[in-house]
Amino acid sequence: MRELGLVDGKIVDLMEPIVAMEDRGHQFGDGVYEVVKVYRKRCFALVPHLERLFRSLRELRIPAIYTAEELAEFHERLIAESEIEEGYIYLQTTRGVAPRTHGFPDQVVPRLTMSIRPSKPLPSQLVKEGATAIWLPDERWLRCDIKSLNLLGNILGKQKAKEANVFEGIMIRDGMVTEGTSTNFFVCKDGVLWTYPASNLILSGITRSIVKERLAPTLAVPVLEKAFTTAFVESVDEAFVCGTNTEIMPIVKISGKRIGNGAVGSVTRALQEQYQSLIDEECPKK
Ligand code: PDD
Repeated sequence: MRELGLVDGKIVDLMEPIVAMEDRGHQFGDGVYEVVKVYRKRCFALVPHLERLFRSLRELRIPAIYTAEELAEFHERLIAESEIEEGYIYLQTTRGVAPRTHGFPDQVVPRLTMSIRPSKPLPSQLVKEGATAIWLPDERWLRCDIKSLNLLGNILGKQKAKEANVFEGIMIRDGMVTEGTSTNFFVCKDGVLWTYPASNLILSGITRSIVKERLAPTLAVPVLEKAFTTAFVESVDEAFVCGTNTEIMPIVKISGKRIGNGAVGSVTRALQEQYQSLIDEECPKK
């Protein structure tokens, strides 16, 4: 088992210095990315991740130079050659390499780089007993729906969470709770799940969509896409964050205040179980 990279279809050593000085991703953060989880040597939810990638590229007017089939094949090749069973694949496309100038260069070819690494198991105590978080101001730009390489607001927020010794920072814009620094945020009140509406102010997460469209309907739990305040969160029964790497992580305390009775709620628990069943179904042992 070894970590590997892939540059425009060619497998490379992850440590190989392949980033050009004038790559626009390097200079401007001018590019997009995706992260796909690998369970038992299979990609989980690859199709929606690739669909979102194509959308991000369109929104930034970066031409797509690989088809979904080619990209799927690159994922497969990284898994096969690395022999990683449990891991994640990071993919990024930049606008390409050209002398630095803000406007789009006339002749530039997008550059694809990918890597595969083994994933660490999620901290089992937090998965079982719940994690803590803090509120943070949402200081990001106004196109959070694009999975852009520019993540300064996110990384500064995550660092604040790290320094506060909590699992996640959950952001607030104009008095409304948007999302986590690398996760989407849900609360459950009186049996109804609430989450911020898919808009330019959050990343429409693949895990969020799975919760909304596949898991919650199985449990007959209604989902409301409606903005809410931190004061509302003080009245809810349950909360969780979700994402590709985070899966479904219960949140039992935010900025020192307990959520509900401070224990993981039954809806969150049931969603975690459903999510695991979906992984088992989509990624059976090879
Ligand atoms: N982050 N919101 C933000 C701001 C994110 O960065 C992510 C994912 C999510 C969850 O999206 P998904 O369910 O599609 O993973 C929500 C990835 C994993 C990352 O930056 O590493």
